[in-house]
Amino acid sequence: MARAPPEPHLFVVFGATGDLMQRKLLPSLFAVETALSKGGPPFRLLGCARQPLTEREFRSLCLKSLRGAKAGPLEELRRWVDRTVAYASLGDSGPDAYAALRGRIEEVERGAHLPGNRVFYLALPSEVVGSTVEQLGAAGLHRSPGWSRLVVEKPFGRDYRSAVSLNRLIHRYFHEKEVYRIDHYLGKETVQNLLVFRFANMLFESVWNRDRIDHVEITVAEDLGVEHRAGYYDHVGALRDMVQSHLLQLLTLTAMEVPASLDPDQVRNEKVKVLRTLEPIRPSDVVLGQYTAGRDGTGKVPGYRQEPGVARRSKTETFVAMALQLHSWRWHGIPFYLRTGKRLPSKVTEIVVRFREPPVWFFPERGSREIHANRLTITLQPNEGFMLSIELKRPGQEIELVSQRLHFQYAEAFGPLADSYQTLLLDVMEGDQTLFVRADEVEEAWRVLGPVLESGRSPLPYAAGSWGPPAARALVEDGGHHWTTD
Ligand code: BG6
Repeated sequence: MARAPPEPHLFVVFGATGDLMQRKLLPSLFAVETALSKGGPPFRLLGCARQPLTEREFRSLCLKSLRGAKAGPLEELRRWVDRTVAYASLGDSGPDAYAALRGRIEEVERGAHLPGNRVFYLALPSEVVGSTVEQLGAAGLHRSPGWSRLVVEKPFGRDYRSAVSLNRLIHRYFHEKEVYRIDHYLGKETVQNLLVFRFANMLFESVWNRDRIDHVEITVAEDLGVEHRAGYYDHVGALRDMVQSHLLQLLTLTAMEVPASLDPDQVRNEKVKVLRTLEPIRPSDVVLGQYTAGRDGTGKVPGYRQEPGVARRSKTETFVAMALQLHSWRWHGIPFYLRTGKRLPSKVTEIVVRFREPPVWFFPERGSREIHANRLTITLQPNEGFMLSIELKRPGQEIELVSQRLHFQYAEAFGPLADSYQTLLLDVMEGDQTLFVRADEVEEAWRVLGPVLESGRSPLPYAAGSWGPPAARALVEDGGHHWTTD
């Protein structure tokens, strides 16, 4: 079904000189506009940050970033920046600055004949999200002549209590229907496809339960280290950076019940239910790790504590593995193994659904029976697609079994996929909340992780380029399993 294009609006970004805006949002906003521009520009972009830049300086920064991202031909980029981008310096971010911002917003809207619809995108560290919302509210910016939408990046708070109070603060000024909590994983084509894959194919949905599935693995592995983000990461760690949102979102989409419809709230109701049915996490269900010096494909790489900007005695975890159980009819007794880390051997995001072994086996065995069990691997990146392993008879006189793989790859069938931010930004502009995290969902996710966050455990060392501390292997072996990618 063709969707109605967004209404004309002003897209205001806080933290406009920062990494997220310059590296991710700008190229995606340009791509969104190019895709929409047939009937004229639907939005203007107003960047805000503390730096005292002139509009000209900000535009050249944006142009440089767009060129770096190879977002399009130079002349086209230049024209777009000159036509679309404006800047407002927030100086000391005090009340006067926000009053001035209000004037600037109205000025840009008048100049571009915009009707007063506004998106406020907070591309900011979580510590300053609350004060920014407060300033927006105090300046009356939350009520615009048209609609207003607030976009907040992850991590949303630091724990259950801070997420609850941030939600409370936001709800003082914005209705939940106006709030878009972003998790860019939800914009990935392959993540959205999980719903279609499960609920448009009887073949899978009818076996998607404890009777037919033995266990599920969700891996989000990165080969890179902390890079230049120590200032952020060393205070956050893998639990808050990856597990609280990305991995738990993948878990909810894999485990949720069929929603009544595709209505955003129906889908999110089912996702929240999954989080509510998670059994309390025990210390023995979790392994935390921190990488030490090791090797990657290019040679020797430093340990986490030797990375620039990381505290020399840092106890921040760069790896997490956990075994979770759901207290539900569909999943009772079925482990969901989650794993994520930096400086692992490769970049791979996958969900592996391991089916049960046949109850009676009369074929010759190759090693353990487990190798004959069907596996469905949904690869979210790279090489997006899926693979189903099935058992076949090898041609010949003897009955000899061989595992074969049925493959599907998005790139082969449809070409390259759009960036997740592009999808999500367009959803914000169109007012579709399906792929955004609701207030109760984010609170539940923090609640689930509470016992681990509060445990104060020190991470175990693992060599860069390995699959995490040996205890992560033991965690699944205790359940009689092993990681498919290891
Ligand atoms: C971000 C985290 O949310 O996701 C980063 O802050 C991480 O630490 C990134 O590297 C991974 O995203 P992707 O899309 O590359 O898997």
